[in-house]
Amino acid sequence: MSQIKMNKILILYYSQSGQLSEIVKNFAKPFEQSDNYVVTYANIEPVIEYGFPWKGYNFFDSFPESVNRVPCEIKSLDLGDEDFDLIVFAYTVWYMSPSIPSNSFLLSEQAKRIFKDKPVITLLGVRNMWVVAQEYIKEKIADLGGNLIGNIVLRDRSENITGIITISYFLFTGKKDRFLGIFPKPGISQKDIDGAEQYGIIVKENLEKNNSENLQKELIKAKAVKINSYLASTEQIAYKRVFTKWAKFILKKGGPGNPARKIRVRIFANYFPFAILVIAPIEYVFFLIFAPFRLRSIKKDIKYFSGVKLKSNF
Ligand SMILES: Cc1cc2nc3c(=O)[nH]c(=O)nc-3n(C[C@H](O)[C@H](O)[C@H](O)COP(=O)(O)O)c2cc1C
Repeated sequence: MSQIKMNKILILYYSQSGQLSEIVKNFAKPFEQSDNYVVTYANIEPVIEYGFPWKGYNFFDSFPESVNRVPCEIKSLDLGDEDFDLIVFAYTVWYMSPSIPSNSFLLSEQAKRIFKDKPVITLLGVRNMWVVAQEYIKEKIADLGGNLIGNIVLRDRSENITGIITISYFLFTGKKDRFLGIFPKPGISQKDIDGAEQYGIIVKENLEKNNSENLQKELIKAKAVKINSYLASTEQIAYKRVFTKWAKFILKKGGPGNPARKIRVRIFANYFPFAILVIAPIEYVFFLIFAPFRLRSIKKDIKYFSGVKLKSNF
């Protein structure tokens, strides 16, 4: 098999706490250790930072723009001749959407130049709800003329409600220790963060064998993506029926930080924990009751969301 020329790698990322940056660095190790590759790291930076740890109001004020995929202003990136052999788009998810800074880059003129006709790998560092965001990203990459060949998702492995409590502690304090000394550590485990290197090895080996068609299959075998069908179905319903409606309601009163929308943001901030702690468990019970009758569609969903194809080509 002919050796593919794949030596200039661009890694685009935006990380607030450094969790995703660490994943990115581990993933890139196999490329860094080879003389055949040059890795360029491009840190996307908003002109006005969101602030980490988050302040309560700001956290909820970022909701409507996240959900409606409204970009913020970002600093321009100096990427030399802008010609890369592989693009790794590493992003986190905010409210079932790509984080606003990451999405802002995808919507930029520079992205149109960089992604065209290029192989792309997505690398996510999230809590546990990411399929709606990834569907949007799949479409965006296709619109930009890129070719998504692989997807890797590192996530918080704790049970859903526990994960919500621990990530809230992490996002509002910046601390990654055990909340109250009894909860598990928040976010993605150190073992998984360190393990991102194995996916770098798989990507490198597959590209060198010119085997990008099979890359996602190999990644799935190595557990780079795991679909929880209850969470996937819940987030699709919640995004469409709840998030988009709340976002529209808040946006009617103006853009980010607009004092006119304060009351609506605050109402949403009170509704949000209620929805997670009360409505989501009720939905879980319904999911379990109907799951035996939906086995076929559940299997189909798992296969589809594990892959990199768009629904229209599935
Ligand atoms: C405003 C906000 C909303 C978030 N919403 C989600 C979400 O819908 N799904 C999810 O899996 N993770 C969500 N997260 C967690 C992030 O995806 C990410 O794992 C975490 O913020 C750490 O990323 P960092 O590397 O930028 O620090 C959210 C985080 C923030 C700050």
